[in-house]
Amino acid sequence: ATPWRGVINEYADFLDVSDSTPVVTLGEGGTPLVHAKHLSRILEAEVYVKVEGMNPTGSFKDRGMTMAISKAVEHGAKAVICASTGNTSASAAAYATAAGITCAVLVPDGNIAMGKLSQAVAHGAKLLAVDGNFDDCLTLARKLAESYPVHLVNSVNPDRIEGQKTGAFEVVDVLGDAPDIHCLPVGNAGNLTAYWRGYREYAAAGRSTKTPAMWGFQAAGAAPLVAGHPITEPDTIATAIRIGNPASWSQAIAARDESGGFIGAVSDDEILIAHRMLSSRDGIFVEPASAAGVAGLFGRHERGELPRGAKVVVTVTGHGLKDPQWALRNADGTEAVPVKVPVDAMSAAHELGLEA
Ligand code: F0G
Repeated sequence: ATPWRGVINEYADFLDVSDSTPVVTLGEGGTPLVHAKHLSRILEAEVYVKVEGMNPTGSFKDRGMTMAISKAVEHGAKAVICASTGNTSASAAAYATAAGITCAVLVPDGNIAMGKLSQAVAHGAKLLAVDGNFDDCLTLARKLAESYPVHLVNSVNPDRIEGQKTGAFEVVDVLGDAPDIHCLPVGNAGNLTAYWRGYREYAAAGRSTKTPAMWGFQAAGAAPLVAGHPITEPDTIATAIRIGNPASWSQAIAARDESGGFIGAVSDDEILIAHRMLSSRDGIFVEPASAAGVAGLFGRHERGELPRGAKVVVTVTGHGLKDPQWALRNADGTEAVPVKVPVDAMSAAHELGLEA
């Protein structure tokens, strides 16, 4: 088998690239689609998890970033900028440095996970912590890109959405057709927009016989699409989706309505329960925001709104190691600390509950 060549080379026929596009890739895409046995049992459905944390920088953003950076370089850009809750900045920094260009990132001060911050630093980005939230950062990034020679690589950049649509292609390539439902967490709503586009394009090209219903879930404290108006002070422990005014608002509503889908909200407690369930039962460790889609499925199943036996794909967007603090607590909220033992088999066996 030929090795995976990254999403641009794998899906060039569906992307706006040519021989003159300098492909900047870190081998993104080709992520596992895992049949989740435990989730399937409790949801009474056939559930597959698209594990986007397996991308080179640990999130789905790499699919869009390979396109955005390649096109930026094609157009002669020497510097890129983005606003980010962390994952976009990690990805932009990595791809920009691989392309030999400069990357500036604007993050909300105090509200990004340490793993993501360390990535932006490691990849040499120029990092500013803005005294504001993500929405303020995006406004600022847009202004800078308008007035200075720096190229914006947030998902308002159409190349980002183009690259991210390849997630839907991979699902169809593996399952042989589109699922009944595709579920995912929603912040700025770029990924929901991208998957819906991917499913439609694949169906139009005859690669699938149908398109799925698109289900998106926001955190309850940051759910403008559910409220129907922007949220000025969005709040959730899922910092990746702490967004009050999604850039792809109208596209998200269109994806929901055209697909016969649903956009709902899940509480932080529901997110953390789903987060724990995924890691402790199905063996998949994600960051909290990534569990919002799974939390949403639990809620709809409890309310009898998840058709029994449906084929469901849920995208988990980022790796658990991005923001590991949430795993280091027990279900009752106490800190999970390992028991200390001497170098002694009897003591270790006793603590482990092992009997000879
Ligand atoms: N999950 C994770 C882990 C994310 O980082 C994001 C967005 C989303 C879900 C939501 O995706 O915005 O396309 O609806 N993170 C952005 C960032 C905002 O800056 O990294 P969306």
